[in-house]
Amino acid sequence: MTQVPRGRFITVEGQDGAGKTTNLSVIRDALERSGIPIVQSREPGGTPWGEALRELILNYRDTDIVPTAELLTIFAARAQHIHQVIAPALSAGKWVLCDRFTDATYAYQGGGRGISLDAIALLEHMVQGQLQPDLTLLFDVDIDTGNARAQQRSTADRFESEQASFKQAVRTRYLTIAKQNPQRVKVIDASQPLEQVVREVRSQVNDFIRKVVGE
Ligand SMILES: Nc1ncnc2c1ncn2[C@@H]1O[C@H](COP(=O)(O)OP(=O)(O)OP(=O)(O)O)[C@@H](O)[C@H]1O
Ligand SMILES: [Mg+2]
Repeated sequence: MTQVPRGRFITVEGQDGAGKTTNLSVIRDALERSGIPIVQSREPGGTPWGEALRELILNYRDTDIVPTAELLTIFAARAQHIHQVIAPALSAGKWVLCDRFTDATYAYQGGGRGISLDAIALLEHMVQGQLQPDLTLLFDVDIDTGNARAQQRSTADRFESEQASFKQAVRTRYLTIAKQNPQRVKVIDASQPLEQVVREVRSQVNDFIRKVVGE
């Protein structure tokens, strides 16, 4: 019986303005050069329904949204995203490249909003089962640099409008996740000039491809 090859799941994480979206094309390029079929997506969102929720999550300002409602909405979009996009792609042997995933929930809703790890872990298990990213690149940058970059790019969403203490808590939680998962999460110093960041991204992705091919 021929075994269906399972694709790999790569995520990019980090604060607003750190350089995630900019570097997605670098990752994509490295994978394509190796002939790897990919599906690119993002969270919150990734499906038409999820993208509608994304708009509510990022930009709905008429209500002071309670953190639990925000958390549940993010996981609702994620459940649909996994069902409709991520799981089918992985089972077809494609590699999924996603702009943010559950580490962002631990960082923003956990670190930033103060929701307990247990509550997030419960939903993570319910929605994802065993699914976890195989590789995560964490773009780490100081708050001021992230703010300046995000501002030059677009108007602030609900998270970008938060205070410095919220953003610091997000950054700290991300770095804690990286420390606890050194095999999966690779920290990139995103305060460096873009050319240097790109070099490190390429090197991390190529190392990962070599590791997978060698398995
Ligand atoms: N290393 C870098 N040095 C200087 N500018 C950078 C660097 N990386 C990204 N930028 C610029 O910073 C801005 C924000 O980058 P990008 O949109 O990739 O961030 P992001 O992490 O995707 O942010 P968000 O979470 O808000 O989507 C862009 O204008 C981009 O060109
Ligand atoms: Mg982005």
